[in-house]
Amino acid sequence: MANRLRARVAELCQVPVEGTLVGNGSDELLTMAVRTFAEAGDIIVSPEPTYTLYKTLCEIQGARYAPVPYRDDYSLNAALIPARTRLVFVANPNSPSGTLVPEETLARVAAAISGVLVVDEAYVDFARKNCSGLLKERKNVVILRTLSKSFSLAGLRVGYALADKNIIDEFSKVKDSYNVSRMAIAGGLAALEDVAWMRENARKIIATRKRLTARLEALGFFVFPSEANFVLARIVSYPASQIYLHLKKRRILVRYYDTPRLQNCLRISVGTDEEIEKLLVQIAEIIGSKGSMGRGIGAGKTGGTR
Ligand SMILES: Cc1ncc(COP(=O)(O)O)c(C=O)c1O
Repeated sequence: MANRLRARVAELCQVPVEGTLVGNGSDELLTMAVRTFAEAGDIIVSPEPTYTLYKTLCEIQGARYAPVPYRDDYSLNAALIPARTRLVFVANPNSPSGTLVPEETLARVAAAISGVLVVDEAYVDFARKNCSGLLKERKNVVILRTLSKSFSLAGLRVGYALADKNIIDEFSKVKDSYNVSRMAIAGGLAALEDVAWMRENARKIIATRKRLTARLEALGFFVFPSEANFVLARIVSYPASQIYLHLKKRRILVRYYDTPRLQNCLRISVGTDEEIEKLLVQIAEIIGSKGSMGRGIGAGKTGGTR
């Protein structure tokens, strides 16, 4: 039955059905990538900071995780990635920065390594571009997508992979026989029949993201250019950890990462316009800013959704 879902994915992405696979969320497909391509001692690389599951999966497999740092502006220096890397994971757009690595840079990475490049496009529907063009040029690229973000169906657990048939065949060898339930397949098919809904959902989130970014900047934050459904905002005039704790007390949850690189940062999900307005009012109060509260973010015509 998953073949119907694969066929729909193939049709939407304009790839052969043999070049598709569905998973129990894209997390399962990430696991399959590690189990398929990495043995104990192999090198797995990802630019950091990024989605922490890559490191965890690598450690479980007994492979060697060798992160390379993103530059300060989250551009990727492809030359840092060693040629004999077995597997490279790039979240694109990246989490937690929301930034996008250009396809040309990823093409350079794929050409330079002996192993496989996995481009994790979990947030791609909020971005200007995707990297599916890489699949035509290179046989060592896997693109992963999910219904968890732009389709707002995280609990359904449906993700899919696009890759050369040979890679998909290898993934299939390590996959559980019935990895995606009938319910998930039915829900996934229904969702992929209504791509227009997803695009409208993404459009609203992008519009709210733009307003959130401008308002945070007015409050003194530096906001990394986001192509995702969240923003990473850096503040130097007030400890980000304190803002996080104060917001939590007021029942507003944002992400704070207690790591050297992200010390001054908060990752803020783009909620509805009303939620974002509440958040901004609270932040202004916490940091005691007179930052322009101007015309309310909720005053716009469209409401953002999750
Ligand atoms: C970069 C990235 N990839 C993959 C996932 C997992 O998504 P899924 O729900 O499809 O397993 C997440 C979830 O937060 C993510 O941030």
